[in-house]
Amino acid sequence: MNKFVGYRCSLCSDEYSPVDVTYTCPKDGGNLDVVLDYDSIKHKYKPEDLLSRTDASLWRFLPLLPVSMPEGGSTPLHAAGGTPVFKLDSLAGKLGLQNLWLKDESRNPTASFKDRASAIVVARAREIGADVVVTASTGNAGAALAGMSAAVGQKAVIFAPKSAPQAKVAQLLIFGAKVILIDGSYDDAFDLAVQAADEFGWYCRNTGYNPFTAEGKKTAAFEIWEWWENTHRTWHEQFGIDVDHAPLTIFVSVGDGNIISGIHKGFKELYQLGWLPRIPRIIGVQAEGSAAVANAFHGNTEIITPVSSKTIADSISVDLPRDGVRAVRAAKQTDGTYITVSDEEILKAIAELGRAGVFAEPAGAAAYAGLIKGAGSGVVGSEDPILVLNTGSGLKDIRSALSAVSHAAAPIIEPTLDAVKKLL
Ligand SMILES: Cc1ncc(COP(=O)(O)O)c(C=O)c1O
Ligand SMILES: [Zn+2]
Repeated sequence: MNKFVGYRCSLCSDEYSPVDVTYTCPKDGGNLDVVLDYDSIKHKYKPEDLLSRTDASLWRFLPLLPVSMPEGGSTPLHAAGGTPVFKLDSLAGKLGLQNLWLKDESRNPTASFKDRASAIVVARAREIGADVVVTASTGNAGAALAGMSAAVGQKAVIFAPKSAPQAKVAQLLIFGAKVILIDGSYDDAFDLAVQAADEFGWYCRNTGYNPFTAEGKKTAAFEIWEWWENTHRTWHEQFGIDVDHAPLTIFVSVGDGNIISGIHKGFKELYQLGWLPRIPRIIGVQAEGSAAVANAFHGNTEIITPVSSKTIADSISVDLPRDGVRAVRAAKQTDGTYITVSDEEILKAIAELGRAGVFAEPAGAAAYAGLIKGAGSGVVGSEDPILVLNTGSGLKDIRSALSAVSHAAAPIIEPTLDAVKKLL
């Protein structure tokens, strides 16, 4: 069954067939939503059909994806998604909350949420016979594209700012991509990747610009839906609690705004299929120094005004978010909001999450920093069920991790028990 029927522009709502366009709306440059044949999906599948599939990855939701699974089975590309959800009772207690969970996207094959998007874009690249896939990246999208490409023998070119953390650059090189560091910002890399794709006939994966990135990201919503259905049922069966009145609230960090809009799209599709009675509240968290989407949200406009971004959270350091309009809508249409956090608050959140056994990079911990702020200011109630996403591993940015625990330097001692006793 060919479920992929075309695209719809998020600005003018014009529709295009799959062969008419590749990236954005030719009329106004709006981001395109991939349109699937929801009627035939609904006709053919019931939720149980998906949930009984055995894939422990995002490919579990293949019937709702606009691509087929690349051949070669059991590669890292085939293992993207399927990340665990942990209950964070100790942190919940500190924040005066009762129901707090974290979905740990650092468990993806290249240790960030971006594997979801890159797995689907590489699948698309294989289908259209692309020779080379190119992307601009602050680091993670590139690492994900490089890793997913390496997994199936696809050529990849990555443009990243030269300021990208070393661990991310190491990943790019290890996965064998052609890596080009830019003496400029992520936004410069973005524009250059678009130009290079046009010039050399490469397929461009740029976040938000390529409509298939959101298709990968929406799979996190599908997993949250499955997990929430199970949790819901357990609560009902074990404790007789009816949680219908408390919607799930999700905290997610926002740079270009493609993760948040992809997750929103996933929930909208489940709702449209009649499989989800209520779309969760979605709360976007931005760094104070990179808050173009939050500014638009609070200014009650869909016009995204670029900022001059500056934050330690490199993955969400963006001057002009490329999926800003849909990112504003994700919060607006779900009764969510935007919260901004300082670099100090992000570092504190890294340390707090660490105490619960979760190691997040700054952009990943920003979502939790947003929750700390939101819980303190009444954005969420103490009984609300809350899910925070950790979008990337702390191992990707050791420098920030060390500054998050700078008060706790490890002493060096002689290798004797006496020295230990003296220290203790
Ligand atoms: C770890 C991490 N968190 C959050 C984001 C933000 O995602 P988006 O740019 O789609 O808003 C990114 C993007 O690179 C990321 O790598
Ligand atoms: Zn348009």
